[in-house]
Amino acid sequence: DPVNMKGLILVGGFGTRLRPLTLSVPKPLVELCNKAMLVHQLEALAGAGVTEVVLAVSYQPQMMSEFTKKYEEQFNIKITYSHETEPLGTAGPLALAKDLLAADGDPFFVLNSDVICEFPLADLLAFHKSHGKEGTILVTQVEEPSKYGVVVSREDGSIERFVEKPKTYVGNHINAGIYIFNPSILNRIQLRPTSIEKEIFPVMAQDNNLYAMLLPGFWMDCGQPRDFIEGSALYLDMLRRKNPAALASGEGIVGNVLVDPTATIGEGCVIGPDVVIGPGVHVMEGCRLNRTTLLRGSTAKAHCWIKDAIVGWSSTVGKWSRLEHVTVLGEDVTVQDEIYINGSKVLPHKSIGESILEPSVIM
Ligand code: GTP
Repeated sequence: DPVNMKGLILVGGFGTRLRPLTLSVPKPLVELCNKAMLVHQLEALAGAGVTEVVLAVSYQPQMMSEFTKKYEEQFNIKITYSHETEPLGTAGPLALAKDLLAADGDPFFVLNSDVICEFPLADLLAFHKSHGKEGTILVTQVEEPSKYGVVVSREDGSIERFVEKPKTYVGNHINAGIYIFNPSILNRIQLRPTSIEKEIFPVMAQDNNLYAMLLPGFWMDCGQPRDFIEGSALYLDMLRRKNPAALASGEGIVGNVLVDPTATIGEGCVIGPDVVIGPGVHVMEGCRLNRTTLLRGSTAKAHCWIKDAIVGWSSTVGKWSRLEHVTVLGEDVTVQDEIYINGSKVLPHKSIGESILEPSVIM
C-alpha cells in the first residue's frame, strides 16, 4: 500500500444554507455530535492511513488553521492549506493543489466537508485498486431520487451516466461526496472555477474511467439545519450500535442522547431521543429536549421545551420558552422567558422578547 497517502477536503464553501451558524464559524468547524464536522473527516482519513491532508480553503483560512493545529498531533497527520483567492468550486481546488496531490503518484481521497457516514475509506481504496481506472466515487441509496443527481452504473460498478433530477425512475444511487482518484485526473482539470460533478465526472464516465461503490450504512449531507438534525440522529444511532457506552443513560434519558462530561443537567428533565448536549452547557430543571443540539456554552433555562432545533454557542433559552420546527439560534442569542419560536433562524447576538409564530429569519 502507498505509504504517503493523501486526502483533500473541500472546505471552501460559504455554507449559506447553514446560517446563522456559519455566520460565526466556517461550516466544517460546526460541531456535529460534539465534534467539528472536519474532525470526523480528519479522523476517518487518518484511520485509512492518510498521512497528509490538504484543506482547500477560500475564506477565513486563519480560523481554520488555528483550529486544526492540535489535530496534526492527535491524528499524526500533516495538514497543508491550499488557499484560493477566488472560490474555485469543487474541481478547481484540485488543480490548485496539483503539485501536492501528484507528488508520489499514488491515489488520493477527496471529501466534501459536510457529509457524515461511517467513511469506509479502506474499502474504497481496495475497490479502486481492483478496477484500476482513474476514479471511484461513493454512492448512497436514497428514497426519493427525483430530488438529486442520480448515478447510473453497470453491474461491475462502472458508471454509465449521470441524470440530474430524473422525472422517470433510472435508479436511486446518488453521489455521496467522497472520492478517490489517480493523479491522472489532474490532467482533466483546469485552474479556474469548475464543478467536479457537472464538468469532470460526466467526461470520465464517458471514457469508462469512473466507478461507483455503494456506501454501506448511513449517510447524510449536513449542509442545512433539517439535515444536520437528521444527520446527528443517524450518527447517534451508529454510536448506539458501535459504542453504546458513549451515550447517556439513566432517569429522564429517552433513546439516544450524547452529553459532554462538562455539561450540567438539572432535576426532573426529560431528554431525548436524539439530543446532543455540548461542553459547558447548562440544562436547568424540568426541561424537555427532543431531536436537538445544544452547542458549547449554551443554557436551557428551567422548564423550556425544545424540539427539532439547534441552539448556538453561548445562547440562552428562557424559562418556559418553546422552540420547534427546525429553529436555529445563532451564537450568543438570548430568548427571553415564555417565548415561542416556530421554525425560525435567529442571527447571532439577538435578544428575542416576543414570540415568533411563523417561520422567518430574525435579523
Ligand atoms: P451552501 O452555501 O449552503 O450551498 O454551502 P457550500 O458553499 O458549502 O456549498 P456545497 O454544500 O454545495 O459545497 C459542497 C462542498 O464543496 C463543501 O464541502 C464546500 O465546502 C465545498 N466547496 C464549495 N465551493 C467551494 C469552493 O469554491 N472552494 C472550495 N475549496 N470548496 C468549495
